[in-house]
Amino acid sequence: MDDNVLFGEHYNTHFDPDVYVQSFFTVLEGTVEGGLAAFVLKALHDVFKSGDVKGTRLLDIGTGPSPHSVIPAVPFVQDIYLTDFSAINRKYLYDALLGSGNQDYANVYDFFANLDDKSEPWRKLSDDLKAKVCGIFPCNLLQDDIFGGSSFPLFDVITSSLCIEAAAPDVETYGNIAKKISKYLKVGGHMVIVGVLDQNYYIVGEHKFFSVSISEQELKSCWEQAGFTIQNWNHLKGPEESEYADLGSVFVMHCVKNS
Ligand SMILES: C[S@@+](CC[C@H](N)C(=O)[O-])C[C@H]1O[C@@H](n2cnc3c(N)ncnc32)[C@H](O)[C@@H]1O
Repeated sequence: MDDNVLFGEHYNTHFDPDVYVQSFFTVLEGTVEGGLAAFVLKALHDVFKSGDVKGTRLLDIGTGPSPHSVIPAVPFVQDIYLTDFSAINRKYLYDALLGSGNQDYANVYDFFANLDDKSEPWRKLSDDLKAKVCGIFPCNLLQDDIFGGSSFPLFDVITSSLCIEAAAPDVETYGNIAKKISKYLKVGGHMVIVGVLDQNYYIVGEHKFFSVSISEQELKSCWEQAGFTIQNWNHLKGPEESEYADLGSVFVMHCVKNS
C-alpha cells in the first residue's frame, strides 16, 4: 500500500475505475462494504420513488466510473448530463454507457429493479438511462467556473455521489463548492447528495485517496448557507473496521433550493 494520500490530478493517473467499481459496487449486501452500498442505493431509490423529485434536466456532478446516483432518477427526468474531473473516468463511463465497454453495472440495475414493484428487467433500466444521457462533461469543483466554459441552462435536479468530499481540501472549500453548485439549479430545484462524514481517506487498489473530514452539523450548515432547505436525511454508521476506508458514516440527503 502506498501511504501517500492522493487527490486532484492523481484521479487522472492513479485511480483505477475498474478496481473502484469492483471494490464498492460489485457486492451489494452480504459484506460490510456491500451493506453500505445497498444502503445508499435503497436510500436513493426512496428519494425518487414518490415522483416528487422530477424535472426536464438532471446534472450529476462527479459521476466517476459509476452512474448509480442517476439510475433511480431516470423515469422522472428527460435529459441527463454526467460530469467528472478525471478523463479516465469519463472514458470508462463513456465506454460503458455509450460505447462498447465491458462494464454493464448489471448487479446495480438488478438491485434497483428488485426494489421496484414492477420489477422491470434491468436491461430496460439500462437502455432508458443510455437514451437520456446527453453527454459526459469535464468538471473541476475547485475552479470558479466548474465546467470550464461549457454553458448549461439551469437544471431541475442535481445529484452528486461521494465527489465533493474527494474534491474539497477543507470544510470551508466544501461550503464554497455548495454555493457554486447551487448556481446551476433552478429555485425550487432538487439537490440529492450521497456523501460520507468523518472520513479522511478511502482505498482503491494500492492507493489511498483523500476525503475531507466533515461533521453532520458542518455539512448541513454548508448546504443551508448555500440557500437550501433539507427535506430528507438518511444515514448509516460505518463499520468499526474496514479495509476500504476510515468511514464515520454514509448519508443520502435531499434538499430544495429556496433562494
Ligand atoms: C469516490 S469517487 C466517486 C465516484 C462516483 N460518483 C461514486 O459515487 O462512486 C470521487 C470522484 O470525484 C472526482 N473528483 C475528484 N476531484 C474532483 C474535482 N476537483 N472536481 C470534480 N470532481 C472531482 C473523481 O474524479 C472521482 O470520480
